[in-house]
Amino acid sequence: MQPLLANKTILLGVSGSIAVYKTVDWARALMRDGAVVRTIMTEAATRFMAPLTFAALTGQPVNTDMFQQADAHQIPHISLARQADCILLAPATATTLARLAHGLADNLLSAVVMAATAPVIICPAMNTKMLQHPATQANLTTLRRFGYLIIEPESGRMACGEEGPGRLPEWDQVRETVLATLRPQDLAGRTVLVSAGPTREHLDPARFLSNRSTGKMGYALARTARRRGARVILVSGPTHLAPPPMVETMRVETAAEMELAILAHGKEADALVMAAAVADHRPASPTKAKLKKQAMPPTLPLAATSDILRTMGEQKKKSGRPAVLVGFAAESSNLTTEGQRKLRDKNLDLIAVNDIGHPDRGFAADTNQVLLLDRFGTSRQLPLLGKEETADHVWDTIIALFPDRDQGLRARSKKANKK
Ligand code: CTP
Repeated sequence: MQPLLANKTILLGVSGSIAVYKTVDWARALMRDGAVVRTIMTEAATRFMAPLTFAALTGQPVNTDMFQQADAHQIPHISLARQADCILLAPATATTLARLAHGLADNLLSAVVMAATAPVIICPAMNTKMLQHPATQANLTTLRRFGYLIIEPESGRMACGEEGPGRLPEWDQVRETVLATLRPQDLAGRTVLVSAGPTREHLDPARFLSNRSTGKMGYALARTARRRGARVILVSGPTHLAPPPMVETMRVETAAEMELAILAHGKEADALVMAAAVADHRPASPTKAKLKKQAMPPTLPLAATSDILRTMGEQKKKSGRPAVLVGFAAESSNLTTEGQRKLRDKNLDLIAVNDIGHPDRGFAADTNQVLLLDRFGTSRQLPLLGKEETADHVWDTIIALFPDRDQGLRARSKKANKK
């Protein structure tokens, strides 16, 4: 499995804020994803953290000075700007924002940003009042207009003791933004609805029926779709996973609650991917009070839950929405026959069948191996892959199935040309 940032150079631009201690970790995290990290520090940043710290951790020299010239053929701001696949400014102080907004190339960091063509992500971090000052707000508006991506600072207790917005965001959100800038945005303009995880069907306040799903596959689908530019709505059964950044996550518990959420958002979705392991049955007569051991019936009467995907398949026959309907099938035998049956019966465009008889695929595993069957009779066996890689293959297939694919591409490229 190739790391997501293999062969990429990320330029980390650090300016003088106490938050610099956090970006030391970010540099390490970028390297874990396979990136080469080149750090540029402003003079003020070096007062908070020694350049040696970044140099030792990234294994790369740190640049601080416009005029430090190790090689007569290399002009630092131009050669650094050329190397960058993505520029991450974190923390970005009020002064750095002002410099960039006004085109002041009077230090190495702003000169590099101005000379670069790579995408620029800015994480402002400063005192709340400085952030809210009209000068800073006007500079942020200007920088957005330049096409720089600004990640809104988080609220909380600041190092100066004040409460409010101004803190650096969580790394997970920054990482997703970096990854998105390096990917084709081939789901831009699409809304996708993904379900994930198990459902719980209550017998009484203490007991429920559920299954072994952990939600990893559905969450991987949500993350990868967001990275590719989609608006993502994730309907999640109970899991221990953190909600993916920039994804609209709705938590539900039962199959009935999941159905309500899917029905509510089904019409706005271009694609629905039901990766959830929805319980097929629920206890027929759940009780409000906890059942005593002696009162427990020897056999448990069950009632069928409604089949959400089947309902959406029926709805699609009438309204044509969602344009692409995708199911998952967990099978332990007859994968192709069972997959084809479900594809046909539920009026699906695509089904991803996985063999749950192996520990390295399906429930709880970090890897998966799925067989993709589409409504045109095409069948494709994917190799054993990480769940995010599997998810990307599923999205590739879904994109090819959008009925307005060429129209959509034309409209989007027209829009892009106009900008
Ligand atoms: N599904 C659903 N609602 C249910 C049960 C399943 O929407 N009540 C969806 C799942 O999210 C999945 C697909 O249907 O995308 C297939 O689920 P699976 O459990 O494999 O199939 P079933 O139709 O339940 O058939 P069986 O249990 O007989 O294999």
